[in-house]
Amino acid sequence: MGQVVGRVLNRANGPLVAATVDAVAAEEGHICADIGFGGGVGLDLLLRRVGASGRVHGIEIAPTMLADARRRFAKDLDLGRLVLHDAAMDQLPLADGSLDRLITTNTVYFIEDLAPAFAELARVLRPSGRAAIGLGDPSAMGKMPFTKHGFRLRSVAEVTAQLESAGLHVTEDRRVGNSINAFHILVCQRSDTSSASRATDSAIQTAPSDSPAKP
Ligand SMILES: C[S@@+](CC[C@H](N)C(=O)[O-])C[C@H]1O[C@@H](n2cnc3c(N)ncnc32)[C@H](O)[C@@H]1O
Repeated sequence: MGQVVGRVLNRANGPLVAATVDAVAAEEGHICADIGFGGGVGLDLLLRRVGASGRVHGIEIAPTMLADARRRFAKDLDLGRLVLHDAAMDQLPLADGSLDRLITTNTVYFIEDLAPAFAELARVLRPSGRAAIGLGDPSAMGKMPFTKHGFRLRSVAEVTAQLESAGLHVTEDRRVGNSINAFHILVCQRSDTSSASRATDSAIQTAPSDSPAKP
C-alpha cells in the first residue's frame, strides 16, 4: 500500500520536489533533511547531491512511507548515508544547527499549527544553512476536489509571515512554471544571523579539519 501511494506521490510531485532540491543547492558533503518525504523522491535526489561524504535525514509520520523507504533505501541506510526518523515536523529529533539544507514539500497543508513546526525548522538549520518550503498555490489547490478533505489551504503571504516569525527569512518565492497558479518554493535563511556570521559558519563548514561530526 505504501509503495503504491509513494509511487503516485513521486509521479505527481517529482518535478516540484526536484525544483525544491535545486532551490536549496545541496552540495557534496552536506547534511540535509527532507521532512514529510512521502514517496521518497526528495531523499533520492538529496542522496545523489550530497555524495558518499554527506548524509540525509528523512522525517515522516506515516508508518507506510517509512516502511517503503526502509525497503527502497536499504543500502543507503546500511552505509549510514541515510537516517530515517519516525517523527513530526514540530518535534524534530535533530540537534540545533545541525543541517546545511532542508526541504519540505506539500506538507504545510497537514500541519495545524505552523508556529512550532517552523520554529523547529529554524532551530535545526545551521546559520549558513538554507531551507525550502514547497507548496501549491492555494487558488489552484482550492479547485482540486481532494483538498476539501483534511487540507489546510493558507495563502503564501500567511505561510511567509509564519516563517518570518519563526526566525526564517524568506529570500525568494521561486515559482515552478509561468502560470499564476504555479507551485511556490519559499527559500529561507535563518534571520538571527548576520551575513558575517553566515560567512564564518560557511568557512568552518568547508574546512575539513573543523568539520562537525555528523548528527
Ligand atoms: C502530500 S505528501 C508529500 C510527500 C512529498 N514531500 C512530496 O512532495 O511528494 C505529505 C507527506 O507529509 C507527511 N506529513 C504530514 N504531516 C507531517 C508532519 N507533521 N511531520 C512530518 N511529516 C508529515 C505525510 O505523512 C505525507 O507523507
